[in-house]
Amino acid sequence: MAEIVLGVGGGIAAYKVAEVLRRLTESGHVVTVVPTRSALRFVGEPTWAALSGRPVHTEVFDDVHEVPHVRIGRRADLVLVAPATADLMARAAAGMADDLLTSTLLTARGPVVYVPAMHTEMWEHPATVANVETLRKRGALVIEPAVGRLTGADTGKGRLPEPADIYDYVTDVLGRGGAGPDLTGRHVVVSAGGTREHLDPVRFLGNRSSGRQGYALARAAAARGARVTLVAANVALPDPAGVDLVRVGSAAQLFDAMVAAAADADAVVMAAAVADFRPAAYADTKIKKSADGSSPVIELERNADILAHLAAHRPSPAQVVVGFAAETGDASGSVLDHGRAKLASKGCDLLVVNEVGADRGFESEDNAAVILGADGSSVTVESGPKSALAHVVWDLVRDRL
Ligand code: CTP
Repeated sequence: MAEIVLGVGGGIAAYKVAEVLRRLTESGHVVTVVPTRSALRFVGEPTWAALSGRPVHTEVFDDVHEVPHVRIGRRADLVLVAPATADLMARAAAGMADDLLTSTLLTARGPVVYVPAMHTEMWEHPATVANVETLRKRGALVIEPAVGRLTGADTGKGRLPEPADIYDYVTDVLGRGGAGPDLTGRHVVVSAGGTREHLDPVRFLGNRSSGRQGYALARAAAARGARVTLVAANVALPDPAGVDLVRVGSAAQLFDAMVAAAADADAVVMAAAVADFRPAAYADTKIKKSADGSSPVIELERNADILAHLAAHRPSPAQVVVGFAAETGDASGSVLDHGRAKLASKGCDLLVVNEVGADRGFESEDNAAVILGADGSSVTVESGPKSALAHVVWDLVRDRL
């Protein structure tokens, strides 16, 4: 369990951060809450003290004999700043130390995560853009705000991600054991889920992919500082914090979304299960049982191979392309024989090979794999959480960037 400093900025989203605090303490973390003066105008000191079970201070001048700004910062395994307001990030970027939180930020040596929340205009202002860039350059993680309802009648970019998603993000960063954000400045694109090929308005050909492995990859990349585009095909999982989410349905839509997102990407990972075939014809109205009792014959046609296309049409030779393959061994070869052949035929740099069986792969929380490299390398990942496999994939991608 970790020692966490929760720095709360003066924004209306502070009320949502109380829920983040509750989740952190319930999972056993020791959390010291350091609100700014203006944060206390939104959510008062008793709330933070009761939920954290610890005293709450705002000023450097409380308990001066304990030198709290040095003690709190040094001890923290992680500092989470939420909501990070434009003003707070400006003060942090300038290295100011005019309250306990900004002083703590100067003494913290572990990872620092900012979760901005503000109106779109403030987020997009060149001053904020420059401050965010400065903080990121210095090694801080600044989560991209969510798009949605803001205070008042507005909608746009600037919303605080959901508390559960912030909690997951923090867990991912803590799971890195203090390792720095090694994908800062990189744009990565991940596909997840399974495509649906519609026969008529109510029926489709689909597959069992839950999207968990792709979502774990997106979360892991965000926790390492990358700008992440997640192209999700029919996934019913919570949106990962700080990730640009694009929703698609069919393989054709996935193709278009991946090609568009890959144009400026440093790495592309195809974790989605893509239908190789689609119905040759789509019925605009529901297909009815025929009166004579005969069964319809569904003609299929091939979908494009998205992974092979991306690997063959890279915007830059430096782009790293990763595929997934679910294989079973058979008379013609072992799982790895099939994996090697697929790696070559797809033309990608890395292929994550899962051996599929009765209860492995698709809907489970865990995954085991062998990651084959076009350079002949092979890395075995023992069965473990999908996030662990995700981090090994990003380690290998980073080494190739
Ligand atoms: N893939 C793709 N476009 C497709 C089919 C698959 O991009 N039309 C990608 C998947 O996202 C995955 C990899 O290719 O990264 C899986 O390879 P694939 O050839 O589809 O595996 P299988 O369907 O198992 O192939 P086969 O049945 O031919 O072994």
